[in-house]
Amino acid sequence: MVANNINEVPTNYDRKSELKAFDDTKEGVKGLVDAGVTEVPRIFHHQPDEYSIYDFNDPEETQISIPVIDLDGLLDSTKQKEIVAKVGEASETWGFFQIVNHGIPVDVLEEVKNGVRRFFEQDTEVKKQLYGRDHFRNPVIYNSNFDLYSAPATNWRDTFMCYMAPTPTKPEDLPEVCRDILVEYSDQVMKLGKLLFELLSEALGLKPTYLNDIDCTEGILFLGHYYPPCPQPELTLGATKHADNAFLTVLLQDHIGGLQVLHQNKWIDVPPVPGALVVNIGDLLQLISNDRFKSVEHKVLANRRGPRVSIASFFCTGMLPLPKLYGPIKELLSEENPPKYRETTVRDYVAYFNEKGLDGTSALSHFKV
Ligand code: OGA
Ligand code: NI
Repeated sequence: MVANNINEVPTNYDRKSELKAFDDTKEGVKGLVDAGVTEVPRIFHHQPDEYSIYDFNDPEETQISIPVIDLDGLLDSTKQKEIVAKVGEASETWGFFQIVNHGIPVDVLEEVKNGVRRFFEQDTEVKKQLYGRDHFRNPVIYNSNFDLYSAPATNWRDTFMCYMAPTPTKPEDLPEVCRDILVEYSDQVMKLGKLLFELLSEALGLKPTYLNDIDCTEGILFLGHYYPPCPQPELTLGATKHADNAFLTVLLQDHIGGLQVLHQNKWIDVPPVPGALVVNIGDLLQLISNDRFKSVEHKVLANRRGPRVSIASFFCTGMLPLPKLYGPIKELLSEENPPKYRETTVRDYVAYFNEKGLDGTSALSHFKV
């Protein structure tokens, strides 16, 4: 069933000046909630999308779920082959999977979620000093909606961002309330990323170091998201439908839920699994794998129960002026499988993605031959 209980989104108002007024508060969505809003302001109203959601109460519906892959046993060659096969299959069919026994201790996961929460819940005046949109000038910025002025509808979400590789943000530039844990978590995510790209290389039939050798793990961008509780969650979204502008994303979500993935034209939940991380293929990996691995669209629902906290680690080098061109990997091509994309630098791809904003359409299709 398509959700159609949403009123027509009004367009006969001065959206630009309402966006500007919201932006100027520098307090984000959390500021609105703290001020006690009981109705979602119209800049946040979303048009319903056309997809229904898997209804597992329907006995006709096949019971499916996003794969959860146990990484334990990688030193055993039989188990390793099984894990590679599962990672490959999930990347081809779902574009999303969860991993357990990934090696990052649970207390690190808990503490990084707490750190993100502390960042958003600290003294507003301190937080405001980091509010901005120019992250070429500032190592750490916080704002609400990176695409505030270009997206058709605003998301019920605030975010801070910082680069953790190749040149990590200097610890003294990181927010004090989560400094140590961001450094610790970033070391762990980098190690995990190297491992995941080895598994993905093997799943593509390439030598294990292939994807690391072409710099897929060269850069990491952290986004710490804060989705405040929402008084009318059916009118808005925490994040508009999009695919990620990275090679790969490692996402840590808390217990609230709300992340949904588009699978066979229906939304399916990515349920919070304690201690697990969500991994998803980004557009750049779909491009270089010539569509073998899928960068799948996903969205985040707004929720009444929040705040919801998540931290997304994007393996992406969009911040570097690297001249390297990425196109479909030659070893994967054949007469029957000609290149589906033209070559691009990561920076050009990311610039295109960011300029477009989250408008519900694919950035990758722009690079199709
Ligand atoms: C993202 C994203 C999902 C979440 O940052 O690209 O999809 O659960 N985040 O916060
Ligand atoms: Ni995403």
